[in-house]
Amino acid sequence: MKPKCVVALGLPDDIIERLATRYDVAAWTGSDAMSQQQLSDALAGAESLLCALSTPVTATIIDQATELKVISTISVGVDHIDMPAATRRGIPVGHTPGVLIDSTADLAVALMLASTRRIAEADQWVREGQWTQGWQSDLLLGTDISQATVGLVGLGPIGEAVAKRLKGFGCKLIGWNRTSRVIEDVEPMALDQVFEQADVVSLHTALTKETRHIASRERLALMRTGATLINTGRGLLVDEQALIDELGSGRLRAGLDVFREEPLPAHHPFLAMKNVLLLPHVGSATLSTRSAMLHRALENLNAGMSDLPLAWCANPEIYHGESKV
Ligand code: DGY
Repeated sequence: MKPKCVVALGLPDDIIERLATRYDVAAWTGSDAMSQQQLSDALAGAESLLCALSTPVTATIIDQATELKVISTISVGVDHIDMPAATRRGIPVGHTPGVLIDSTADLAVALMLASTRRIAEADQWVREGQWTQGWQSDLLLGTDISQATVGLVGLGPIGEAVAKRLKGFGCKLIGWNRTSRVIEDVEPMALDQVFEQADVVSLHTALTKETRHIASRERLALMRTGATLINTGRGLLVDEQALIDELGSGRLRAGLDVFREEPLPAHHPFLAMKNVLLLPHVGSATLSTRSAMLHRALENLNAGMSDLPLAWCANPEIYHGESKV
């Protein structure tokens, strides 16, 4: 009998067929994300779980899945998985670092340019038939990224890739990191100073207990009037209500790919605001990046099912036995 593998998200048929050659696959085909009850039911008797950000894997889910040997997420972030619970059970959690740096950095820069040059607003304006006069001297004026100070919050691989791209635009770069990591051409500064001095603040730090609401109400209030906040990391890095207040007053602009709640609920205040650009969490959404992520996730899954160490493991301490109960 083949071991059971739960696939908690829709995947192309050829991937499911490939998995089915080795496993008894229970693949989610619903149009909404799997509910906690559906996930828990599906995991009965399952030894492996292939999942992504839309499926929270809580301690309760992990504790109930008594046969589970490996969790493999198609993401670099693991904040949707209760890592201490998985580690306590000795379950390795595979993730996909390294392959989405460039596509996420590209998207952050695209959001910066689109926000500062009001690209979505201008496109909508043309489609609405408002372009009735020719060239107008004061039409949809934005700001120049080349003259901006850009503040990077998080100088890991994605922050560094964003800095590399921005150097070409000639802007001044300042940055803060949780550790003392320094990047060439990025002037290190205290976190509050980054918010205070930048025309564009871009968030590139992982979501942890310490970084939750790193863009707090107080720090957003420090930002210059007319400045832009870019978030391609995680929604919870930002105090979303505080950002709604700042955007509502017209003081700030924002370009967001991630939100406190995803999908963004209908009637969310952002939807009625022109000074915020909204994307549906597509930082890694290029064909080659998604295929590389999937490749790593499948490799992790197969390794875990063969009792081999995962090549990209988010809780490598389990291999040394320190965290096993
Ligand atoms: C990740 O992998 O964590 C990204 O947010 C998905 O694009």
